[in-house]
Amino acid sequence: MKIAVLPGDGIGTEIVAEAVKVLQALDLKFEMETALVGGAAYEAHGHPLPESTLKLAKEADAVLFGAVGDWKYDKLDRPLRPEQAILGLRKHLGLFANFRPAICYEQLVGASSLKPELIAGLDILIIRELTGDIYFGQPRGRRIATDGHFPGSEEAFDTMRYSRPEIERIAHVAFQAARKRKAAGSEGRVTSVDKNNVLETSQLWKDVMVEIGLQYTDIALDHMLVDNAAMQLVKAPKKFDVLVTGNMFGDILSDEASMLTGSIGMLPSASMNANNQGLFEPSHGSAPDIAGKGIANPLATILSAAMMLRFSLNQGAAADRIEAAVKSVLEQGLRTADIYSAGTTRVSTLEMGDAVVKALK
Ligand code: IPM
Ligand code: MN
Repeated sequence: MKIAVLPGDGIGTEIVAEAVKVLQALDLKFEMETALVGGAAYEAHGHPLPESTLKLAKEADAVLFGAVGDWKYDKLDRPLRPEQAILGLRKHLGLFANFRPAICYEQLVGASSLKPELIAGLDILIIRELTGDIYFGQPRGRRIATDGHFPGSEEAFDTMRYSRPEIERIAHVAFQAARKRKAAGSEGRVTSVDKNNVLETSQLWKDVMVEIGLQYTDIALDHMLVDNAAMQLVKAPKKFDVLVTGNMFGDILSDEASMLTGSIGMLPSASMNANNQGLFEPSHGSAPDIAGKGIANPLATILSAAMMLRFSLNQGAAADRIEAAVKSVLEQGLRTADIYSAGTTRVSTLEMGDAVVKALK
């Protein structure tokens, strides 16, 4: 089992170190190799995703990723900015299916900004298409407008596009995930989110979802416009089971959903390609404002490592063990700053990692 470890920038190095520690405590045989990515790689090699890093990622069974980005790179040309590293990895590894579960742990019900009764027991799964849409659509750029509201003035444009096969494959991922969850006691429903009242891409999205849905008669399918979905997520989040949507809407809705759980510091994610090769990263960013202070929450990354074991490395039992250990440290009242509340014990990034290792034993 070969794992490419790409810590990246900001808190990335701190949280990935804790996840690696947890993996090493499992008594499984891993080959782990670390490489630079993002701003760190730009500093060392002049590019956020050097050839050597990409090669390592391609050859690995799975990639454990921290986070990339820092404000100090905002002025660089876009191809050199840290974010291009994660976009490049998604593109070159074909990681089209992004799983972002939002689970509210019982012990953290009070840490959410929503009323406890709205989120207690929350367990929903956002599936975001990750290699299409306005993120990657061509053409894009800047030019002088020849039409529109202000001909003759500078304009910028991006292209939102989706092809039928792109939608079909993410639809299958969503229905199959809903089926798995149903077997474990969930409702068995897919909510497809789009903006078909305005956008052609969304109309095709909806049409294809309906077609593929016919192959999954055991799973219910409903549709929601993205603005309404944003509202329903804070109004009645538990009504969702699997939410599937495009790249742009999924980016926004998954950040929104993360806050239902108390802290974005708790949310893992998996980005998968058709060969079960995956990239696993916390849903949060590099948080340069708290980098180097040892206060970041490593649990999202540790839970991402658990997803890696289950999704890419066929080690479901080890994944269960990590998840149980995370529950146990929360039960012990251990909290990093982002989830701290009166009456609990505040711990550092390192102490949290150590506590998970101890709970594993
Ligand atoms: C995410 C991030 C990325 C995205 C950025 C860093 C390019 O926000 O993984 O959600 O927009 O997809
Ligand atoms: Mn995002």
